[in-house]
Amino acid sequence: MPTITFGSQTITCNQGDNLRKVLLANKINLYNGNATTINCHGLGTCGTCAVEITGPVSAQSWKEKTRLSLPPHNPDKQRRLACQVSVEGDIAVKKYDGFWGQGDTVVSA
Ligand code: FES
Repeated sequence: MPTITFGSQTITCNQGDNLRKVLLANKINLYNGNATTINCHGLGTCGTCAVEITGPVSAQSWKEKTRLSLPPHNPDKQRRLACQVSVEGDIAVKKYDGFWGQGDTVVSA
C-alpha cells in the first residue's frame, strides 16, 4: 500500500486512489482558509487543491494542465491538483500558502 506523507502526518491508501479523496477522508487539511468550503469539489476547475508532490502519481490531464497554466497558478511551480491525481506509489505532499495554494511558503504541518 502506498504511503502519503503530508507534513508530519503519514497515511496509507490503495494504489490508484484519488489523492484529494484520501486526504479528506483522513481529515487532512488540503485547503487553505475559505477554500475549505469554496471549492469545486474535485471537478478540476477551481485550482484550490494545488499541492507539490514528490513521488509517483498519474500524469497530468489536459484539464489539470490547463487550470495550472492560469493565474494565480504558474506552470513553472510544478504544482498538481490533488483532485486530478491518482497515487501510484509512496509520495510526499506539500501544501503552500494562498487561497489556491499558489504561494511560496509551506503550510502543511
Ligand atoms: S478541488 Fe477544485 S481543482 Fe481540485
